[in-house]
Amino acid sequence: DLSDEPTLRRLDAALRESPHLYRAAPSTSHTDSSRRYYPIYNPSHREDRVGEVALSSHHDIEAALSSAQADRDWPGMPPEQRAEILEKAADRLEAQEYDLIALLVREAGKSYPNALGEIREAVDFLRYYAAQIRCEFDARRYQPLGVVLCISPWNFPLAIFLGQVSAALAAGNTVIAKPAEETPLIAALAVASLHEAGVPANALHLLPGDGEVGAALVADGRVRGVMFTGSSNVAKAISRILHGRLGPNGQPVPFIAETGGQNAMIVDSSALAEQAVTDILTSAFDSAGQRCSALRVLLVQEDCADHVLDMLCGAMRELRIGNPAKLETDIGPVISAEAQANIEDHIDRMRRAGRKIWHTELSPDCAHGHFVPPTLIEIGRVADIGGEVFGPVLHVRRFARAELDGVIDAVNATGYGLTFGVHSRVRSTIERARTRADAGNIYINRNIIGAAVGSQPFGGKGLSGTGPKAGGPLLLRRLTAQCPDYTPP
Ligand code: SER
Repeated sequence: DLSDEPTLRRLDAALRESPHLYRAAPSTSHTDSSRRYYPIYNPSHREDRVGEVALSSHHDIEAALSSAQADRDWPGMPPEQRAEILEKAADRLEAQEYDLIALLVREAGKSYPNALGEIREAVDFLRYYAAQIRCEFDARRYQPLGVVLCISPWNFPLAIFLGQVSAALAAGNTVIAKPAEETPLIAALAVASLHEAGVPANALHLLPGDGEVGAALVADGRVRGVMFTGSSNVAKAISRILHGRLGPNGQPVPFIAETGGQNAMIVDSSALAEQAVTDILTSAFDSAGQRCSALRVLLVQEDCADHVLDMLCGAMRELRIGNPAKLETDIGPVISAEAQANIEDHIDRMRRAGRKIWHTELSPDCAHGHFVPPTLIEIGRVADIGGEVFGPVLHVRRFARAELDGVIDAVNATGYGLTFGVHSRVRSTIERARTRADAGNIYINRNIIGAAVGSQPFGGKGLSGTGPKAGGPLLLRRLTAQCPDYTPP
């Protein structure tokens, strides 16, 4: 409860006492005194050096792959025992909650509520996949793939990292985890929790590094499955490498990708405007818009557009943007100087193209880090946006009643299909949007972010991902192969 004084005091203490320097290094037994460490800085405060990371060398990659490939303990363990270990890791994370929040705030710029939500989601993934192998997993029928490579993003450095790793481990695979370059420290803590809970060192390796480390791993024939969350361009590059090689029996290597979106929400003139505005605000600007599910395009019916946009601007003015280590902060920084520059370039391009642009003001607090103010950009056509803009930028397209199908088709034509929302009180409009929008997760009269593990499996179509969805019943099946000698009882 973030309104509770003792909780706040413990949070403050966790931040003050958080180790001055966290470290992440390849978790191979190889120790090299000549390792070079690179600093990781707090995105909301450039002078706060949060920790340092050693990048993985060819030697580390080799050592991790041969150890993961040779491990027989984890794949041979009864599913109930694997489940117990994953549940123990979940307990450990819960017990370390305050330290994890402190690191999520400092390394990833998460606000307190976002950090808490992320820990909950990570714990849910561990418990959900553990429950699946306890109840539904027939180890005689399905065998693990072998070494599974997990390449995870910085926007959910704990939840998506552990979501991938726990699914791959639950299915009995051994895992090489390559965290995002921006957030290796939280990944190192997560891996330590899994090892301490009982995952053998050989069954799970952390290999921090850049895209070259990822590419070398994807190309290696010992990797028998790849899970990836990140940009569509990187997913395409991985897919091309995997097409160039096959599994041991000539079969394609399973590739599970979850990528970006050009997520839209329809607000028609029957919508409850107050509710729509609250949900637009959360969907577009929570986490500084750095969720793959975040709202990028608001499609608002022209009859109600002025009213909705007036209310939206009013609500945006109330948002507090700044240091996420303060409870009153609603929106923290974007992840890096590069991310900030990319978003600002997009806004500049739109300004030069004559678009109407409106944004909130930043407080002086923001001068120390990478902040972008929540911004609205009016557009004439959805196609004018170009690709996904990963930050607190919401494009607004007004539409006439007769254009409803056309604007949905324009969103579909971007090729992405992750989340989609509709705010309306007309049943036929809701049905039309629901059936016409080509998206993995469709939300009706609510916000479009924060899919709940187990009850809202999450994942997209087309450029947004390959499926099967995370936190859903089909994922583990994709991380296994049917035993060749299995005969149904
Ligand atoms: N799973 C997250 C959400 O639903 C996005 O990455 O918001």
